[in-house]
Amino acid sequence: MIDRIRREQAARLRAVRLFARLNDRELQTIDRLADEIEVAQGEVLINQGATGGKESFVILSGTASVEVDGQAVATLGPGELFGEMAMLDSKPRSATVVALTPMTLLVIGPAQFQTFISQPGMALAVLKAVVGRLREAEGSPRQRAVDEAGAA
Ligand code: CMP
Repeated sequence: MIDRIRREQAARLRAVRLFARLNDRELQTIDRLADEIEVAQGEVLINQGATGGKESFVILSGTASVEVDGQAVATLGPGELFGEMAMLDSKPRSATVVALTPMTLLVIGPAQFQTFISQPGMALAVLKAVVGRLREAEGSPRQRAVDEAGAA
């Protein structure tokens, strides 16, 4: 029975894009580490500039807006991770994140993050998420100006 419940929970997590390539053991570890929470539309999940950032989040359902200096820079949806930057480098939060709809989130606290990131499959998934954001930022006008100056 417990095995069946564990397998069902692992299957539910595997449906999350970020976790798609993790093995059963890694999924069960995540299930053990993360808490599931519901948040209301309009809730501020992260404040830009806040120090001592304590959590990162994986979106199970709903969407959130990422805002830098009051400007929306991205919309995040199911399967995406946020709040990982301050967890990795202990610097102030780089953006404000606000729920655009009611959301279901997995919350990974600081004590759990080390275990979370020390699983090879998870470390790779987080790296891919960060690289994806870097590529998007490369398409931004500021980055284009840097590229053009370099090419001149
Ligand atoms: P962190 O800096 O801990 O808190 C704010 C989070 O917003 C950040 O981690 C990232 O997860 C996310 N974030 C910041 N900038 C962007 C961006 N340009 N696109 C998508 N997500 C972002």
